[in-house]
Amino acid sequence: MVEKNLDFRSDTTTWPSPEMREAAAKAAVGDMGYGEDPSVNELERVAAEMFGKEAAIFCTSGTQGNAVSMLAHTDRGDSFICEARAHLYTIERGHWSVIGSLIPKPVPGVEGFLPPEAVRAAIGRRRGAGPRTSLLCMENTHLSSGGTPLTPEQMKIDFDVAKEHDMGVHTDGARIFNAAVALGIKVSELAEYSDTIQACLSKGLAAPVGSVVVGSEEVIAEAKYYRSMLGGNMRQAGIIAAPGVIALTKMVDRLAEDHANAKVLAEGLQKLGIKLRLPLKTNMLFIDYTDIGWKGEDWSNACNELGWKSRGGPTGTRLVIHYGMEREDIDALLEGLAKLV
Ligand SMILES: Cc1ncc(COP(=O)(O)O)c(C=O)c1O
Repeated sequence: MVEKNLDFRSDTTTWPSPEMREAAAKAAVGDMGYGEDPSVNELERVAAEMFGKEAAIFCTSGTQGNAVSMLAHTDRGDSFICEARAHLYTIERGHWSVIGSLIPKPVPGVEGFLPPEAVRAAIGRRRGAGPRTSLLCMENTHLSSGGTPLTPEQMKIDFDVAKEHDMGVHTDGARIFNAAVALGIKVSELAEYSDTIQACLSKGLAAPVGSVVVGSEEVIAEAKYYRSMLGGNMRQAGIIAAPGVIALTKMVDRLAEDHANAKVLAEGLQKLGIKLRLPLKTNMLFIDYTDIGWKGEDWSNACNELGWKSRGGPTGTRLVIHYGMEREDIDALLEGLAKLV
């Protein structure tokens, strides 16, 4: 049975499935630092295979996965290009600066897509003055534009520009499985246009902890070195890697349910006069309740009364649909809200 988890704040709030809890309890373990944890090794094997890459490493979090990937592609003093509202640029405490001495070149995107001419302009002249630009970072799905998936065609455009300039390409794929499911393609089709991809296990896929980074043997060996530096050599990590295997093998297809439930919720809220600020693309709604005269407190209190957790902003908020919420829960919420609006 799915444990109810009616928390709209983020898909980071998901709880492990009963099967994950059992797998954690029974996981075979060894010393990950010696490469001897069978559950970690299995997770890394499964991840590499799904993404169509040579190798993978298990990291403590998406932030650590992004950090070790960026370090693996660059030298101190290099610059990197990313979308101006990218999570790794705006939220991750500047690991790229503190640990990597990297210089950011943020480029405003269009729904997360970096226009190739803007990427070219940001690279500048390789032999001219200024720092070498050695890395391009993409984000798929793109959080700040409402969880928008980048298509393989879009990724290829920017990948090709980066390769014209011998740059590495990293994708923050915290929610790359949401992108693949929404586009109806395999995640390996998106992975083709990135040298490394960080994919979170602990968001919509509901594992309790961790991310994987996938790439070539060479780049993953480099990322592993930095993972160690950042304290990511976790020893008997099979306990948390075993749920990760279930995340990858059993939880991907069900993301389609989250997307369908998000659509039902979006349509229901719009009928009540609550607008969408951004078009719905995957599992996130950005809503605006000003038209019904509600403030943040009204929204939060209404949700609270109906058994949901949500943090209302002054004019609207973000609602993230994930494991632990089912269609009947969305229907009940909409019924309850109809009485309160
Ligand atoms: C797009 C994106 N990238 C990276 C991360 C970082 O993941 P973590 O919280 O596991 O460090 C997040 C977390 O919410 C995210 O939304």
